[in-house]
Amino acid sequence: MFDLVTDSVRPEGMKKQDETRQGEAYAPFANDPNTYKKRFYIESYGCQMNFADSEIVASILNQEGFGATRNLEEADLIFINTCSIREKAEQTVRKRLTEFRKLKDQKKGMLVGVLGCMAERLKSKFLEEEKLVDLVVGPDAYRTLPGLVEEAEGGQKAVNVLLSREETYADISPVRLDSNGVSAFVSIMRGCNNMCAFCVVPFTRGRERSRDTESIINECRDLFEKGYREVTLLGQNVDSYYYVNDKENETITFGKLLERVALISPLLRVRFSTSHPKDITDEVLHTMAQYENICRYIHLPVQSGSSRVLQLMNRTYTREWYMAKVDRIREIMPDCGISSDVIAGFCTEEEKDHQDTLSIMEHSRYDMSYMFFYSERPGTLAQRRYKDDVPEDVKKRRLQEIVELQNRLSLESNHRDLGKTFKVLIEGNSKRSETDWMGRSSQNKVIVFPKETYKLKKGDYVMVNVTDCTQATLLGKIVN
Ligand code: SAH
Ligand code: SF4
Ligand code: F3S
Repeated sequence: MFDLVTDSVRPEGMKKQDETRQGEAYAPFANDPNTYKKRFYIESYGCQMNFADSEIVASILNQEGFGATRNLEEADLIFINTCSIREKAEQTVRKRLTEFRKLKDQKKGMLVGVLGCMAERLKSKFLEEEKLVDLVVGPDAYRTLPGLVEEAEGGQKAVNVLLSREETYADISPVRLDSNGVSAFVSIMRGCNNMCAFCVVPFTRGRERSRDTESIINECRDLFEKGYREVTLLGQNVDSYYYVNDKENETITFGKLLERVALISPLLRVRFSTSHPKDITDEVLHTMAQYENICRYIHLPVQSGSSRVLQLMNRTYTREWYMAKVDRIREIMPDCGISSDVIAGFCTEEEKDHQDTLSIMEHSRYDMSYMFFYSERPGTLAQRRYKDDVPEDVKKRRLQEIVELQNRLSLESNHRDLGKTFKVLIEGNSKRSETDWMGRSSQNKVIVFPKETYKLKKGDYVMVNVTDCTQATLLGKIVN
């Protein structure tokens, strides 16, 4: 089920969380050569938030007369929206930049811009290191892109990496890139105020800020009216969403926001990511339980199962506290899916800490996990305070054990679903066959089933009985 990409693993059939290449993206009308003065191509790496940001960037550029293209050769501007989370993610980007460089040699006047977290981390150093980069633009500076492109066209090197305490791009309506027309991501906040010792995000994304509630509701409603049936509310730490509506003197917590999105229509599924275990409240859990269209699925990254390591990581919870949280979720929603992120080989990790990680995974019975080995990031708390002292072969061996355990847990979780019937939102044809549909259960599991003679379409809900499974996918049959 997992493909081991040196330091990160993901379940087959799941969207890659990071180090993903979005491939070609396009915006509406780009095929009409008369509509736009210039063409841009954008490729995204990293978390869903980066992908959502690329849709903001596309919208900003669209308004300035730039059309997106799926075709790299056709582009006047190439953007790469980058991730810094692990060294491997940065290496992938650098490799891709050398490929762009060749294109640039062939096409005079073509500009290459680096966006996102690597731009923020390296700032103008990027221009010195990667000589053929023309623009470096951080995650809070996308509004200034059109002006920066103009500067770059005039032969100057254009850089804007200013972080903001307010920017949420609330008023910008994202251009949906490569969307299936059924599910969409909606940013509800930016930045992160947690200081997990291993993590570079607080440095690349700045302070946490929540987006205006009304603009979120409007975007979700608009998506629903356009035929979308699922929204995923995005933030590094969604449970700390907090917005004060000055006019009505009303405070909107994440629980309240969830409820308001759920009330748009019972036909609109609501998901969210990511929850920090310390912040997910009973209010949120009860709201989930109350609304059938809020999906029974929580991504609850544990990182480590050892209280000692968790403390060094500055995660602010202990092993016992995390386990109690999992129990609480299962008490309120017995059918809730839970997934996790796990890091193997953090500084000072010993064999017994690693065993604690394995046993907390067993306790939590994760349906799925994203698993990594620790990669030291410059400027982070861990890099400044601790030694990256677990040898690489030990990190890899521990990661392998974590992966093997997760494979078993995933299979067991799928076995528990055999014979059960789930409400599935159809996302499209299955990858393998046009005579099968692919969709997801509320618990975020992929279900593949024959279309038979039913007149169904993408975006429809259908009840499916699970008849078989693999580690990554449930197989089923439509029930009337
Ligand atoms: N905000 C989210 C996670 C963002 S990063 C949260 O707090 O859960 C996604 C995952 O990457 C993290 O959960 C962590 O497991 C992993 N990660 C972050 N920094 C890392 C590092 N330096 N080395 C290895 N994995 C890391
Ligand atoms: Fe990084 Fe921790 Fe913030 Fe997640 S909560 S983005 S891991 S600092
Ligand atoms: Fe990567 Fe930045 Fe997201 S570092 S994981 S793209 S916030």
